Amino acid sequence: MNSVTDTRATASSAAIAVEEAHTAHNYHPLEVVVAHGEGAWLTDVEGRKYLDCLAAYSAVNFGHGHPLLVAAAKAQLDRITLTSRAFHNDQLGPFAAALAQLAGKDMVLPMNTGAEAVESGIKVARAWGYRVKGVKPNQAKIIVMDGNFHGRTTTIISFSNDDQARADFGPFTPGFVSVPYGDAAALEAAIDENTVAVLVEPIQGEAGILIPPADYLPRVRAITTKHNVLFIADEIQSGLGRTGATFQCDNSNVIPDLYLLGKALGGGIVPVSAVVGNADILGVLHAGEHGSTFGGNPLAAAVGLAVVKLLATGGPQERARVLGERLQGGIRSLIGHGVIAVRGAGLWVGVDIDPAIGTGRAVCEKLMERGVLVKDTHGSTIRFAPPIVATVDDLDFAVAQLEAVLKEMAL
Ligand SMILES: Cc1ncc(COP(=O)(O)O)c(C=O)c1O
Repeated sequence: MNSVTDTRATASSAAIAVEEAHTAHNYHPLEVVVAHGEGAWLTDVEGRKYLDCLAAYSAVNFGHGHPLLVAAAKAQLDRITLTSRAFHNDQLGPFAAALAQLAGKDMVLPMNTGAEAVESGIKVARAWGYRVKGVKPNQAKIIVMDGNFHGRTTTIISFSNDDQARADFGPFTPGFVSVPYGDAAALEAAIDENTVAVLVEPIQGEAGILIPPADYLPRVRAITTKHNVLFIADEIQSGLGRTGATFQCDNSNVIPDLYLLGKALGGGIVPVSAVVGNADILGVLHAGEHGSTFGGNPLAAAVGLAVVKLLATGGPQERARVLGERLQGGIRSLIGHGVIAVRGAGLWVGVDIDPAIGTGRAVCEKLMERGVLVKDTHGSTIRFAPPIVATVDDLDFAVAQLEAVLKEMAL
């Protein structure tokens, strides 16, 4: 190693060492220390460039440092950033109105993280069940799906099937029943007079980008309507352009009662989440029953409004659809060459690696060495979700690197 390389390696390992020493070890990051991002590309502390094929789990759908989003944030930073909801601010109304219009709904409950949107949706559904549907006190039941991922709070992990997410974190919150994902008959059989809602990811992202049968979401809609049960779509990862539509539900021509949104709603700049629905449901909440100091803050609202304006053009959705075909086609060509299955919707692709070749993590590490950052899930699956601003050349580069890594590992 010459002295220049020495200094570079030192910068990276020093940054990792200090982080490891002073943060809880609840993640197992790849050994790359990012210092800069622009569009679909990241640069590490040693000046190496990487194509970002994770986009912060779809929070960076519009790319790093999108000029319109950064401009909205910078302008708002100079005005006012936080008031709490004890006072009104002049950004929340326009943001909520625009988001409600984008979703074709009446109103918005603004929060910060995805898990908070899920928690809020659960509370709204329970209150609706007692106050509108007439469910007996404390009997409300919400149906969830096997393999779900909705976040990390104690209530949310109460209905996870992932042992690692639950171990040693009980006791758990009651009131949830889990049924197989994609099985509409099992869902209907689980409904009783206490059921207030069905909570479903239109595509299960963390489970490996699992796409249910084409008639599943329409059947969920029909069943929930028939039994007077709310249909809550967690579009925190699937929504806002990623799958080639504003919402993945759009791809099935389905309108849920409540959308749960997060991640990309904050433009990769600030945490912004929301529950979006009509007044007959969200209107059940009264003052003092729910809230968050940061929810609906002016900085978040200004960035959120800029995100909604971007999506209202339809441009990101169309780009994700067209580029998605390119990326999916490229990765599908590797089936039989180290890839055993590919599932995709728009620019969101789950790739099952042949376990005989190596783990998903090993593939991610080798891709990192070749300038592509991706993340594994569930052992041998990796997912590609590059920012929608990526170019055709970027996607072809990612596929070429994957092909090279698989060849290398098969040797
Ligand atoms: C579908 C879904 N819901 C909820 C969440 C939780 O979001 P957050 O990490 O912002 O709490 C995630 C995060 O990955 C998600 O994918």
